[in-house]
Amino acid sequence: MSLLIKNGEIVTADSRMKADIYCEGETISYIGHDLPAPAGCEVIDAAGKYVFPGFIDPHVHIHLPFMGTVTKDTHASGSQAALIGGTTTFIEMMAPNRHEDLLEGYQNWKSLAAGNSACDYTFHIGVTKYDDATEAQLRQIVAEGMTSFKVFLAYKGFFGVNDEELYQALTLANELGVIVAAHCENDEIVAQLQARLLSEGKVGPEWHEPSRPERVEADGTSHFAAFCELTGAHGYVVHLSSVPALEAASAAKARGVQLAIECVVPHLVLDKTYAERPDFEGAKYIMSPPLRDKRNQQPLWNALATGVIDTVATDHAPFDFKGQKEMGRGDFTKIPNGIPTIEDRVNLLYTYGVSRGSLSLERFVSAASTRAAQLFGLYPRKGTIAVGADADLVVYDPDYRGSISAETQSMNVDYSGFEGVEIDGRPSVVTVRGQVAVRDGSFVGEPGRGQLLARPTLHG
Ligand code: URP
Ligand code: ZN
Ligand code: ZN
Repeated sequence: MSLLIKNGEIVTADSRMKADIYCEGETISYIGHDLPAPAGCEVIDAAGKYVFPGFIDPHVHIHLPFMGTVTKDTHASGSQAALIGGTTTFIEMMAPNRHEDLLEGYQNWKSLAAGNSACDYTFHIGVTKYDDATEAQLRQIVAEGMTSFKVFLAYKGFFGVNDEELYQALTLANELGVIVAAHCENDEIVAQLQARLLSEGKVGPEWHEPSRPERVEADGTSHFAAFCELTGAHGYVVHLSSVPALEAASAAKARGVQLAIECVVPHLVLDKTYAERPDFEGAKYIMSPPLRDKRNQQPLWNALATGVIDTVATDHAPFDFKGQKEMGRGDFTKIPNGIPTIEDRVNLLYTYGVSRGSLSLERFVSAASTRAAQLFGLYPRKGTIAVGADADLVVYDPDYRGSISAETQSMNVDYSGFEGVEIDGRPSVVTVRGQVAVRDGSFVGEPGRGQLLARPTLHG
């Protein structure tokens, strides 16, 4: 089986060039000019299009039992939606809560994904408690190649860890060479503010943001950075949403803390006025950290352009409006948190960052693919276009014009937070390890072909 992609402009995190790409089996064999097509080779003409490395979403929730319900996507629907949007690998947060067994949770998440995911995937291991069994269990899971942890400083009593547990998890991570992703919000302040707002009769979705103000996120971010600094662990701040948190993370980076920063598409494109929409429609836009005042957006874009922010993820967490978001009518603290975005990340980042903004194509590729591969042990197999790399390729049509709608999306959820938003471009062909999986917005691949990716530690 071979594939030749001809006449496109190849864009990586540090280069642009017009050339052909020849793939044999699952990997890239040659990159060059005027490459011949052997008999039986599938040829894709990419004239007038970009050819990007397959995009990597480093923060998704496909299966997430959370807030009394479970996310709507399956690994089949979520992975096919990812591919349609150009994402060829995702990293899912597997997160049993603190009352569940970690190893049983890990086996459960693996069995849900195996044979069902159409794209490649791997897991961040949720550390939601640290008891007598945890250390040995984590050592076992890391030995299987799941070399990143996820901790929550929020969601008290469910996912959240206390400071002793945080210290233990980071100490083990440092010993094993495992990077630790963290949701950074001070859970005690959130709990106190939620209780106060509810007691004042402030129950609608518009009160979600005031219950988790920017300072709560900045406090969580500096707290996490201090723990990374003092344990020596490498940290990764997920879904950073506000200027005060950016200042806290940047200050830590500047003093040498090994800290990477992720932002997510909803915070770049939407703002808190969406969550203030009347008649409970704002519930569609409830996530944590919350959508922020618009003044936070340009500084996030600037930090992305300069590389202070490393990656752009989605934090995809699909809950239906009907029956799920509605659980929080009359009490905003019961609205399941999350905005489905896995299908739209690349197109929205391209549209608002590259086409209508000032993000270079190289930074776009870095933030949506390469940096995640580097940080999480997937590079250079994933995240670039090079001989020997997996043939995960996105032939991207910058001239496509269309708009996002729940009616046409493949994510298994009954609304889109980006309904009617116009996009400037989309993938016309997406390949996974040398096989075409998407053509012009439709999934045409093998449903269960995705592989679980084992990754090295930071020690190699
Ligand atoms: O609102 C969010 N972010 N939902 C998913 C869980 C998390 O915090 O990542
Ligand atoms: Zn989170
Ligand atoms: Zn998340």
